[in-house]
Formats: sequence, structure tokens, C-alpha cells
Amino acid sequence: MFRIAPSLLSADFARLGEEVRDVIAGGADLMHFDVMDNHYVPNLTVGPLVCEAIRPHCSVPIDVHLMVKPVDRIIPDFAKAGASIISFHPEASEHVDRTLGLIRESGCKAGLVFNPATPLAWLDHVMDKVDLILIMSVNPGFGGQSFITSALAKVAEARRRIEASGRDIWLEVDGGVKADNIAAIAKAGADTFVAGSAVFGEKDRGGAIRRMREALARA
Ligand code: DX5
Ligand code: ZN
Repeated sequence: MFRIAPSLLSADFARLGEEVRDVIAGGADLMHFDVMDNHYVPNLTVGPLVCEAIRPHCSVPIDVHLMVKPVDRIIPDFAKAGASIISFHPEASEHVDRTLGLIRESGCKAGLVFNPATPLAWLDHVMDKVDLILIMSVNPGFGGQSFITSALAKVAEARRRIEASGRDIWLEVDGGVKADNIAAIAKAGADTFVAGSAVFGEKDRGGAIRRMREALARA
């Protein structure tokens, strides 16, 4: 069971509602929503107000990827704005266990995000509180970067940890995912794939998603 999550970061922000409906009609399973604060990452995007604005156009779960520091204060706002999943970077939280708890108490699934240089050891004592592990295959902040291949070994290690936990934890990969590398990422153990430029950069978004599914079916 594979999930494709187009990232709105590469959408046309002047017509976001239409863009959301377009990729959902094209087969998106989740809507990946990148939140950047020009502090934790060197770029600035959108917040809860825009999440709330797209919600009526969005019939799939909204997968909020927080690249903000601090994290905790903004969590209830995204829960109210319609987020289903909220993920954050452990380096951006003073108290990772508490932040995971806050997300779940707000009624959302909780995800932990790993930058290319961030060790999976952050999972050691919180595996029971995590619903999703997001492995970054680029440094966060921008769309359209190339896939960092060392992420594959990390995905495989995360998969081993999930198997050992016996829990149903989603394993998502974000950054540089395309139809020509998605099969290798799936083979490493991922089940959920974020794709920004590879989907929104194509005129036919449904076609782009279909090519990814075909590559996954061959994996
Ligand atoms: C990067 C974001 C990604 C980004 C991926 O910081 O977290 O979600 O949109 O874009 P592509 O798929 O173009 O690498
Ligand atoms: Zn993202």
C-alpha cells in the first residue's frame, strides 16, 4: 500500500484551491503542506490560515510538515485548521516527547522528521508516540533539489525500527522524489512519497502521479 503526497510548495500559490482539486483528481492520497518560518529554515511559506483556506477544497488528509522553531505554540492552530498529520523536526523542539503528545492530544497523527544529518536515535525512547517517520532526502527549505542517495540506507534502518516496534508507523520520504527513483525508495522500505516539483512541475499532474504508481507497481 503506497501513498503519494504532492507538496503544495511547488503549486501556483495564486490559485491554490484549484491546484489542490487538480492533484486530488489526479490521484493524490495526501496533501503535503510545507510550513517554513525563515528561522528554522531559510524560506518562508504559509501558516494555519492558508491550511484552513484549502481545507474545503481538499478531500484527502492534510499532511503538515512543520519547518518552524519553536514548534509547540502553532500545533493547536494547525489542528483547528484541518491538519490530519503534523510532523516536526526534533532539533526544533525543546521537548520532543511533549510535542508528540501535544500533536496527538490535538487529535492529529504525530510525525518526526529527520534531516540528512539527523540520527534516527531520536526515535529510541518515543517509538510508541510516533505515527509517522519522515526521512528528508534533501536539506529542508526549498523544492526542486536533488535526491541525496544516502537517504536510502536511512530509510532501510527506519523500516527495521518500525518492524521491531510491531506498530503501524508510516514511513515517508521527502525531497527529490521522481518517477525514476521512487521504486528504489520503495524497495528501501518507504510507503509514503512526497513529490513537489515532480507533480506540480508537470502540466498533466494526473499523468505524473500515474507514472509514479506504475514505477511502484514494478518495484
Ligand atoms: C523541502 C520540502 C519538500 C519539498 C519537496 O523542504 O519539505 O516537501 O516541497 O520538493 P521536491 O519534491 O521538488 O524536492
Ligand atoms: Zn515537506
